[in-house]
Amino acid sequence: MRLRNKPWAKPLIDGNPDLIVTNPNEYRGKWETRFKRSAPLFIEVGMGKGGFIIELARLHPENNYIGIEIQTTVAAIVLKKQIEIKLPNLQLICANGSGLSEYFEENEIDGIFLNFSDPWPKKRQEKRRLTYRTFLKQYQNVMSDEGTIEFKTDNRGLFEYSLKSMNNYGMNFEQVFLDLHKNEEAMLDNVMTEYEEKFSKKGQPIYKIVANFQKLEQV
Ligand SMILES: C[S@@+](CC[C@H](N)C(=O)[O-])C[C@H]1O[C@@H](n2cnc3c(N)ncnc32)[C@H](O)[C@@H]1O
Repeated sequence: MRLRNKPWAKPLIDGNPDLIVTNPNEYRGKWETRFKRSAPLFIEVGMGKGGFIIELARLHPENNYIGIEIQTTVAAIVLKKQIEIKLPNLQLICANGSGLSEYFEENEIDGIFLNFSDPWPKKRQEKRRLTYRTFLKQYQNVMSDEGTIEFKTDNRGLFEYSLKSMNNYGMNFEQVFLDLHKNEEAMLDNVMTEYEEKFSKKGQPIYKIVANFQKLEQV
């Protein structure tokens, strides 16, 4: 999803520094100070229009959440919603998820969500995929050993690539679903994203991987 930059987006972001950050490096090791209380911290990289992270934050006031989005206008759309609802346990970052190690300290994060990430299907675009090994390295750097990556997609090519990439990296698989929406138990606590709504309505299977870095040496 590429949105043309809207003229209102940047001023809105600049006018709400308490809700959204464009200089995440400055909060490295200090994200707790952006929330009302200290709590486990979960992030979504590529939050899109934010339906998933907003709903998760609403359902789990016991956790803190940060939604990260690279596109200014898309991040500003989520910000508009957060200005209305002002969830105290949700913060937003408008920046590239490739810089996570600069934004977070080691072990600062307790879990990472990657939902319907752009597939970047061409071989020359591989490095942009959010499950490319350099991204996995960033996740390993910033996430605690007990944390998991939860990855959902409708894109079979990206799913197969991500399984391979995580396996080659040495990650452990906790769960793999080939058709998430057919699994009643897994659906009990499933929070839908905008893309998930769209693709599951068309009858497409949703793939999901839950994996961790436990007992892996830093590479
Ligand atoms: C296909 S959309 C999915 C949005 C949402 N997660 C959902 O499931 O509805 C992928 C989003 O990830 C964002 N994105 C892609 N690469 C990113 C990166 N390196 N850092 C942050 N956001 C990224 C895109 O701008 C886009 O909004």
